[in-house]
Amino acid sequence: MRVTVLNGPNLNLLGTREPEIYGRTTFAELETLVRDEAGRLGITIRWYQTNHEGSLVDEIQRLPGAADGLILNAGAYSHTSLAIRDALLAVRIPFVEVHLTDVTARDEARRRLVFSDLAVELITGKGVEGYRLALRALHRHHNGG
Ligand code: DQA
Repeated sequence: MRVTVLNGPNLNLLGTREPEIYGRTTFAELETLVRDEAGRLGITIRWYQTNHEGSLVDEIQRLPGAADGLILNAGAYSHTSLAIRDALLAVRIPFVEVHLTDVTARDEARRRLVFSDLAVELITGKGVEGYRLALRALHRHHNGG
């Protein structure tokens, strides 16, 4: 199974970015954690981060034929981006949306998620563990469960 992990703006700063909110695990440590779990599940990972909305759209458009599933933490674009929603509707790749924090319990603007209704699962507020749970959810989905 092939899974692409797309990380949006500012996630590259994990570990130093508002650690009281996002924790102290660095972005590199998160990648290692995801790759280790993927190895256990027999999943090949493409790991990607960008600060640019259009690059996320480009990456989503590349998924058909290249990935069986997507883990998407689009950061702040999750609350605003109809372009990402349209791209997800266009490719129809099963995806799990992940947020480290519980976006439903933060400020009003973060409660609105513009593509989570398309996701196989929405995982929020579980910190970096959320990525591991997302891998397991995609693995289950891929294997018909
Ligand atoms: C986030 C939540 C978003 O509201 C925020 O803009 C982020 C990270 C999360 O993982 O909790 O950049 O997606």
